Amino acid sequence: MKNIDSKNHVTGRSVYLDDVPEVAGTLYGAAFGSPVAHGHLRAVHLAEAAKVPGVVRIFTARDVTGENQIGGIIPDEPLLAEHKVDFCGMPIAFVVATSDEAARAAVKLITADIEPLPVITDPREAHALGQLIVPPRTFRLGDTAAAWDTCAHVLAGRADSNGQEHLYIETQCAYAVPQENGGVKIYSSTQSPTAGQRTAARVLGVPMHQLEVEVQRLGGGFGGKEDQANAWVGLCALAAHLLHKPVKYVLHRLEDMAMTGKRHPYSTDYKIGLDKDLRILAFEVSYYQNAGAAADLSPAIMERTLFHSTSTYFVPNVTATAYSCHTHLPPNTAFRGFGGPQAKFVMEAAIAQAAEQLGVDACVIQKQNLNRTGDEFPFGQKAVSEAHACWHKAEELYDIDQLRREVEQFNATNTLLKKGLAFMPICFGISFTNTSMNQARALVHIYYDGSVSVSTGAVEMGQGVNTKMLQVAAQVLSIDPGRVRLQSTSTSRIANTSPSAASATADLNGRAVQLACEALVGRLREVAALELGVPESAVALRDEQVLVHNQPSALDWKKVVTAAFLRRVSLSEHAHYATPEVHFNKATEKGHPFAYHVYGTSITVVTMDCLRGTYAVDAVKVVHDFGQSMNPAVDRGQIEGGIVQGIGWMTMEELLYDPTGRLRSNTLSTYKVPDIYSAPKEIAIEPLATDTDNLAIFRSKAVGEPPFMYGIGTYFALRNAIKAFNPQSPVAFDAPMTPEKVLLALYPEAPASAPTRSHERSRVATA
Ligand code: MTE
Ligand code: HPA
Ligand code: MOS
Repeated sequence: MKNIDSKNHVTGRSVYLDDVPEVAGTLYGAAFGSPVAHGHLRAVHLAEAAKVPGVVRIFTARDVTGENQIGGIIPDEPLLAEHKVDFCGMPIAFVVATSDEAARAAVKLITADIEPLPVITDPREAHALGQLIVPPRTFRLGDTAAAWDTCAHVLAGRADSNGQEHLYIETQCAYAVPQENGGVKIYSSTQSPTAGQRTAARVLGVPMHQLEVEVQRLGGGFGGKEDQANAWVGLCALAAHLLHKPVKYVLHRLEDMAMTGKRHPYSTDYKIGLDKDLRILAFEVSYYQNAGAAADLSPAIMERTLFHSTSTYFVPNVTATAYSCHTHLPPNTAFRGFGGPQAKFVMEAAIAQAAEQLGVDACVIQKQNLNRTGDEFPFGQKAVSEAHACWHKAEELYDIDQLRREVEQFNATNTLLKKGLAFMPICFGISFTNTSMNQARALVHIYYDGSVSVSTGAVEMGQGVNTKMLQVAAQVLSIDPGRVRLQSTSTSRIANTSPSAASATADLNGRAVQLACEALVGRLREVAALELGVPESAVALRDEQVLVHNQPSALDWKKVVTAAFLRRVSLSEHAHYATPEVHFNKATEKGHPFAYHVYGTSITVVTMDCLRGTYAVDAVKVVHDFGQSMNPAVDRGQIEGGIVQGIGWMTMEELLYDPTGRLRSNTLSTYKVPDIYSAPKEIAIEPLATDTDNLAIFRSKAVGEPPFMYGIGTYFALRNAIKAFNPQSPVAFDAPMTPEKVLLALYPEAPASAPTRSHERSRVATA
């Protein structure tokens, strides 16, 4: 089935927040963000700004009627700065005016007296000073200390990966419209309507029932709107609450880039030990996560890093420690993979280093150590593994021997062009790692004309979840999908939603839709049995027909629905689903946090121009564990998009903060994201159609985040191409592999080469 949004997207009819018709009298907000990354806030000067024609009011922390707090996991983030500023762009004041232009003109006239304090942008520096967001955590399996002696090879190193701007096409925005009796309805571009509702309730000091958050769809979220949509909801709701007027704020791209947090940069130390047969016996790792200036989701992301420390491999002895380091950057947040990709990059770096030192191809070590069903992860769960199946299928299907020969031949016959090839196996845990979040609800109405309305807690952000929800309803009710309408996501219809995140949205909400529809089918069968005077067990609903003993009866879908209404049988159902079996004990750091894992293998081939340092991705060839895909077209889209986004993170997206904590890569001219020219020339996707009952929906498997990690293969393919040109080059594990870094690695002896790590470079950048 086609994505139900395709046609409206391409004809421009899809409704995003800024397309919601504005209520008469709507006012426009704009935030004044701190120009300084860290300091005591002594005074804010608003008088000049207040004189700008059209300015209605300027709000500061003093105006907050409830609690000036938006921290979700830890209450450490004020909505508006009070005595201190902790990052550049931290909202200090919120101007509300009769036009967007007036609000922004006024923001330019606001000044603040800030007594500067030392700025830390490097997580290791923060760690050395004891500046941690939460206490460190360690996951352990076996005994690494005892294992080193049994290893034939032990090596240690460091791997750094940089952050990443979400660059959702639709910037952050919110629109709050006062309702009667003190209520406020808030349109928000959020992955987490309930988090927005909860934040606004807290900030306003009103019960959650006074507030409704509604979401039609997002122009992308990628994790950036899981928590960070809340601030704008809070600001607009507060202003609407106090002014009794609708207030809207749509961030400009530059504001969005400067004020919001991004993927967490990580700096990591590792030590890896292998036996003579290249089996990894021990792995020790310390992750320094750059959390930024508030917790946001960092503790949960740090936890997911630990859950993925061994990537797709089985390692019998593991000690993995993670530090969430408090720096003066905008609070970093969820981004596709949620800390998993950072862990996988480190493991692949360790393997690449080992391979180089031992003179073998990295894929020999990779393949040798892929996990198998029954292998224990460091957190106690046992793998149900498709790692070998994906790898072998990829080797065969894509004729790896031939591919390798082509690369070798090319490299033997070309001096200034080199090719590189790398495998990237993935294994990604599906479920919120916070067990309580693995629940969802759905509300299904059958109207008496036979049409169906479905509401869930799922937010459509381009990933196609609404199409999947519609498919579930149509399939369980056995009716034409054309009868089903997916409603917007609203906290008044579906309460206490988990964010649409963790790739689990279709699993969780789909199960709830399934339960609701099954209950309705049960009632309709009862009605049909009464109408037809046959036992209920003989009745089935199929393809809009009521069957008795598998033969058509006088009743069809519409007639049985009408009959149910006339018999006063409820045609509505609200269902709840909670993933069974998942649990985790933080005291022991053991449990079964994931419903299942998603596996896959990619093979990436790149060509490098060794004169210029530029490169192209020739192909990414994937075997991906889809389960029984509910919608192959949607799922392929997720894989293609994930791969390109992953390649962007690993190759060209270079986030740069200067030593004062200001974002230098703050525009699309200084921050390069993949475009069609930098996308792989070929993306081949072959399903591994596994068929296990895995707690997903209809034996499908989650697909949102896992393919992002195929992008990591590009980094190592590029590294291999560099090595083909200059085997002596000491290529640091320091992503992204920009053309600039490639050039420095190709010619390390050149005078200007002194390789710098990203955080060191950020210290010298002053332009
Ligand atoms: N795809 C599109 N087009 N837009 C998005 O914002 N977000 C990704 C992924 N794919 C995203 C996307 C992220 S971070 C997650 S967690 C999942 O979709 C969320 O949706 P799902 O749970 O339905 O897979
Ligand atoms: N994944 C994504 N988002 C989340 C998670 C998670 O595990 N936990 C809380 N938010
Ligand atoms: Mo995705 S990072 O879980 O929104």
